Amino acid sequence: MSGVLIERQAEKLRQQLAKDLAADGAVTSEAWKAAFAAVPRHVFVPRFYRQTPNEQPAVDESTPDAWLKGVYSDQLLVVSPDVKSSSTVPSLMAAMLEALDPPDGHRILEIGTGTGYNAALLSHRLGDSNVVSVDIAADLVKDAQTRLASIGYRPTLGIGDGAEGWASGALYDGIIATCAPNRVPDAWLDQTRPGGRIVTPIATGVAVVDIKPGRRGEGQFLPVSAFFMPLRPTPRPADLGSQIADITSAVAPTRPTDLDDKVWFDGDFRFVLAAALPGLRFLSKLPTGVTIFTHLDGSWARLDNGTVAQGGDQQIWNAVEAAYEQWNDLSRPKRDLFSISVEPESQHIRLEGRGVEWVLPRVP
Ligand SMILES: C[S@@+](CC[C@H](N)C(=O)[O-])C[C@H]1O[C@@H](n2cnc3c(N)ncnc32)[C@H](O)[C@@H]1O
Repeated sequence: MSGVLIERQAEKLRQQLAKDLAADGAVTSEAWKAAFAAVPRHVFVPRFYRQTPNEQPAVDESTPDAWLKGVYSDQLLVVSPDVKSSSTVPSLMAAMLEALDPPDGHRILEIGTGTGYNAALLSHRLGDSNVVSVDIAADLVKDAQTRLASIGYRPTLGIGDGAEGWASGALYDGIIATCAPNRVPDAWLDQTRPGGRIVTPIATGVAVVDIKPGRRGEGQFLPVSAFFMPLRPTPRPADLGSQIADITSAVAPTRPTDLDDKVWFDGDFRFVLAAALPGLRFLSKLPTGVTIFTHLDGSWARLDNGTVAQGGDQQIWNAVEAAYEQWNDLSRPKRDLFSISVEPESQHIRLEGRGVEWVLPRVP
């Protein structure tokens, strides 16, 4: 396919995506609909890696139909083979941008530049002098800068740990993050003006927090689930192979359990689990059918055919069972029923009127 045909096809698919996002209710304002209709995602995703169980084949301009179809579908696209970065699902980006809801002239800091696509949408909407975007990966920022400039956008880009925000551009009217902190970092609270807003993934949900003076804020979660990568650097567990071997062979008391590893894949329960037990990780499902969960504190649970064995400082499976019982007792509330409160000394997720409160940890 020639360059001209690619551009023509991309234009057609982009208009369709913008219409679909509006029809599905992900985009609700004319301003963001116009941004999705105008900004070419294929410029920011020259290649993506299809995720299949055994391999991650690259899809790019060499198969233009598959490439453009993937780029202009409402899908998350993995853009580096080591899964270091991805282009977020457009409908989730749209929901977050709509929640940020910046009027003309607002200055926004984005955490997690990645491909640069979101920075381009923000630049289209607000003008690039009102957009700052930061990523921890220098190579990603360099590529994003080239792609943004190729279509005429020149937001301020920074290389650094987004947990520190970007002080030289502060104060911002809003911050939008596309990687997930454990809780709202202090630097973001310091760099957002009172009356401004922070939209960030937390605990597999999207928190929309209105900022008040003195490192305070109040907010709600959006209905959508949001499985963003955590802010790096994340604590690295010991070598995966030896960890699995150690836990598989560990001797520990075994008891029956009614819960199995499927609970991990229940999207609504995952929010409660992430809030109640933030350091929990699904380590591995072995060919034998044994499933291993770990906690960042080194605790573990080994599930095998209706039984569980546990080790370490905490009995993590007991905590999963307690969270599951609590969630059922509460009639399985969805994310948008929960609120988030930010105080100088502590941050909480709450289910108002139901006595449910979880502290968000400063570190996992
Ligand atoms: C889902 S991707 C961002 C997608 C991006 N907004 C886009 O439009 O393509 C998450 C990004 O967060 C970045 N990231 C991870 N930890 C970070 C940190 N501590 N500070 C800044 N960026 C970070 C990753 O390098 C990755 O590019």
